[in-house]
Amino acid sequence: MKLPEHGLSKDAIHQKWNEYTINDMNWKDGKFFGYVYYPGDEYYSVIKEAYAKFSATNALNPSTFPSLKRMENEIVSIAANLLHGDENTCGSLTSGGTESIFMSVKTAKDWAKKNIKSKTPELLISESAHPAFCKAADYMDIHYQLIKLDNEYKTDIADLKSKVSANTIMIVGSAPQYPQGMIDPIEEMAEIAYNTGCLMHVDACVGGFLLPFLKMNGVDLPDFDFSVKGVTSMSADVHKYGYAAKGASVVLYKNNDLRKSQFYVKTDWSGGVYGSPSFLGTRGGGPIAAAWTTLNVIGLDGYTRIAKEVYAEVQKIKRVIKEEIPDVYILGEPKTTLFAIASDSLDVFELADELAILGWTINRQQNPMSLHIILNAIHIGKGDLFINDLKSAIAITKKFSVNKLKNNLQIGAVKGLKKILNDKQFSSLTKKFAGGENPDNKKKSCDVRNDERTFWQWFFRRTGTRLSG
Ligand SMILES: Cc1ncc(COP(=O)(O)O)c(C=O)c1O
Repeated sequence: MKLPEHGLSKDAIHQKWNEYTINDMNWKDGKFFGYVYYPGDEYYSVIKEAYAKFSATNALNPSTFPSLKRMENEIVSIAANLLHGDENTCGSLTSGGTESIFMSVKTAKDWAKKNIKSKTPELLISESAHPAFCKAADYMDIHYQLIKLDNEYKTDIADLKSKVSANTIMIVGSAPQYPQGMIDPIEEMAEIAYNTGCLMHVDACVGGFLLPFLKMNGVDLPDFDFSVKGVTSMSADVHKYGYAAKGASVVLYKNNDLRKSQFYVKTDWSGGVYGSPSFLGTRGGGPIAAAWTTLNVIGLDGYTRIAKEVYAEVQKIKRVIKEEIPDVYILGEPKTTLFAIASDSLDVFELADELAILGWTINRQQNPMSLHIILNAIHIGKGDLFINDLKSAIAITKKFSVNKLKNNLQIGAVKGLKKILNDKQFSSLTKKFAGGENPDNKKKSCDVRNDERTFWQWFFRRTGTRLSG
């Protein structure tokens, strides 16, 4: 595609937006889990305004936009306060969970150079932790070992004890982890870290702006934050349960000494001394102002109310699943607002296909096969709709159908063929499949790239293989 010869009119741009978004998930109907955390139109009108007002500003140099620096400091401070930090707790605002995690790993690496005498420093990462930890370790060439999960999908303390050593620079747990929504045994993990003399990171990207409010509402949850001795850093996403616009997370450290290992400074560049606290250089003011505005416009009363209502909706769904839907069950005993459903009697990916026909977007998980359910403010009042659709989808999934048999045969055949064909042969096959039998490819397309993509989207969905998390 080339740049348009003449700039388009506002109307033409709006028309293009409509055309381009036609296949986007219709998130406003709340028939999805994950991706969008939306506090409602009333709050969002001012959040949007903040994003637009500051969209041209840049937090690269804090002296040029002191407003952004001030907002950033206040966001970090609010997060530290919620997570029981003390006057030494400090941190940075980042663009998202992945950047916060990268920063915590980079900090551990540089901190370890000074504090841990090991030729092979390594991270111990809980198996259920977000892949961003392994991604960061791989990018920075840091060795890591995964810690197994116990029967309840929590980090296995015995396995952690067997792996911790003088090489361990940081232990990673989550509160809660994404796949099954379990809160890791942070107190036990942090005690091991403390006694070993290494760092302990708690990934609260999901829970950082949720667990504190659930606790305030009286939900019985274990301690997971800086109140636990041995916890040295945390990540908490403002753009998840903080309900900010996308592009805002916080990474926190127990003290400034630790945070110093996060910073990067190049003193001899001809463009001047270049220092940056986190990964990005230029940082848009939009997400910063929007995050600050969100925290302030929702406030403690708003967050505790939302957390209470979302929790009640989740409890209702979980109760119905346990009492009325014997075909599926919840993995482990997750205590917050996310969980995974599995089944011994039906194929949950087929169930997800049927739910998709009813308009639901649900992530498929593996090891074990399950569907991921996570509710936020947009789902308040949608519990009954989901329960009814889940029941209908289960009834259809249980029925034999020729189409289903055909799909399953196709998947089996494709998996087998992938093993025996070379890439070229396989690619030409996928094109044929995509143009014909693929159930998602309702319109016949003559665009080969589209056909391949559609085929793979369908195949990944049906087999639980994920391209991103
Ligand atoms: C527990 C957890 N940590 C980190 C992340 C990464 O966050 P982001 O997608 O904002 O980079 C996620 C994303 O779902 C998550 O669930």
